[in-house]
Amino acid sequence: MVRDTDRLLPEGPVRSLDDHLAAGGGRGLQRALTLEPDEVTELVDQAGLRGRGGAGFPTARKWRGVLENAAAAGVAPTLVANGAEGEPGTYKDRVLLEQQPFAFLEGVCIALHATGASAAYVGTKAKFTQPVAALSAALTEVREAGWAGADRIELVLGPDAYLFGEETGMLKVIEGELPLPRVVRPYEEGLFSTATSPNPTVVNNVETFSHLPRIVADGPDGFREAGTEASPGTMLFTVVGDVESPGTYELALGTPLRTLLVDIAGARDIKVVAPGTSSGLITPAMLDTPLDFDAMREAGTGLGSGGYVVYDSSRSIVDVLATLIHFLAIESCGQCNACKLGNGEMDAILASMQRGEATQTDLERMVVRSHTVTDQNRCYLPVGSQALVGSAVDAFVDEFVATVEAGEPTPADLPVPLIEHIDEATGTVTFQERYHLKQPDWSYADQDPGEERLAALRSDD
Ligand SMILES: Cc1cc2nc3c(=O)[nH]c(=O)nc-3n(C[C@H](O)[C@H](O)[C@H](O)COP(=O)(O)O)c2cc1C
Ligand code: SF4
Repeated sequence: MVRDTDRLLPEGPVRSLDDHLAAGGGRGLQRALTLEPDEVTELVDQAGLRGRGGAGFPTARKWRGVLENAAAAGVAPTLVANGAEGEPGTYKDRVLLEQQPFAFLEGVCIALHATGASAAYVGTKAKFTQPVAALSAALTEVREAGWAGADRIELVLGPDAYLFGEETGMLKVIEGELPLPRVVRPYEEGLFSTATSPNPTVVNNVETFSHLPRIVADGPDGFREAGTEASPGTMLFTVVGDVESPGTYELALGTPLRTLLVDIAGARDIKVVAPGTSSGLITPAMLDTPLDFDAMREAGTGLGSGGYVVYDSSRSIVDVLATLIHFLAIESCGQCNACKLGNGEMDAILASMQRGEATQTDLERMVVRSHTVTDQNRCYLPVGSQALVGSAVDAFVDEFVATVEAGEPTPADLPVPLIEHIDEATGTVTFQERYHLKQPDWSYADQDPGEERLAALRSDD
């Protein structure tokens, strides 16, 4: 388990710089400034910190790659902190920004020193009003306190779109455009790049930055006291759905998934678990997998951003998959035909299964589509669709066939699990209320499509 002193999640919100310093904060930045930049990067390397935004990429290796490209181009790199938190089932970056904003900002200042970056942009959603308020207040305080680098940090408040969190989508928003991903990665061509200046950019998740102060203050060995050799440290996990105690929890990496879902979150009956929408579904047979990047990948899923949506045996697998694929079909931006059309077709097939109108051929068509949905993809969104459909059909093929053969409507009672808020005191989870109104072109319908259908049925009477 995690010792109290190793914790990133505080007991309660850290509201002032004085409180942060009283809790031992500030030492990381202080020490970093006594070291050469590459000595700081070396500490991060030795600590084995891996990105907490989804792929688990080693942070020091990312920084060094960007620094090499920036040096070759004769420019200083730029930093971006990704606080878009758009993955379904994930609610931890908002918790950090709201409850631990000084640790996050200290991490950004440490990274500014280590990389020699000219600026750091913090991209988060305009709708995250409380985290944004806490972060803005903390930024003002650390600027007034004269923290090195704080005057080079800028907040960018972006749109409520999944692709705002995709790293190149985030660069586009910071540049004042829509979050439409591009092929070239930020470490090659970063923010405000031109034909002659590629401006390589480091993009790291909010939680990744937040671990830096402890690594630099206490040294790599302190950080490595929790976690495994290849996935050291702690990580924040979110659990929602059919559990007794939904919430955001901090655990040592390597803790079995069962401990998180069953012992801590109180899942009593697990049919299937969605680890967000970027990796394959988790079945009960996988519950003893350690929560580390490699073990989860080897088990056929992914650690992702640590968010889990639990579905119990009362749920229809068709409803679970329909909900997740609907989200991806809506959020796909349409720059790649196979992604927008393929996700749209799988969404339509799953909706027809939910109405009890699909045939066996439709089921087969969905599987075929899942193989081609990634064709010529600019970003990884459709890789998630492929993993979800493949894993769902692999594990629950009999239920899919039975649902199609029965020709009966499914309950269709699941929301897209985009978390609006978790009230840990009451255990209440609020999902985004208006999501069912969002259209494939990202506009919002005035009226609930379900209500429209009902009105049409009534007028037929
Ligand atoms: C469709 C899509 C959505 C993503 N959304 C987020 C997000 O909301 N927050 C985030 O930190 N990373 C998100 N990512 C991952 C980022 O592209 C990037 O890998 C990450 O911010 C890197 O940070 P890390 O190295 O610290 O993990 C998303 C990726 C994809 C493909
Ligand atoms: S793969 Fe899909 S989401 Fe990504 S850029 Fe292409 S169309 Fe957009």
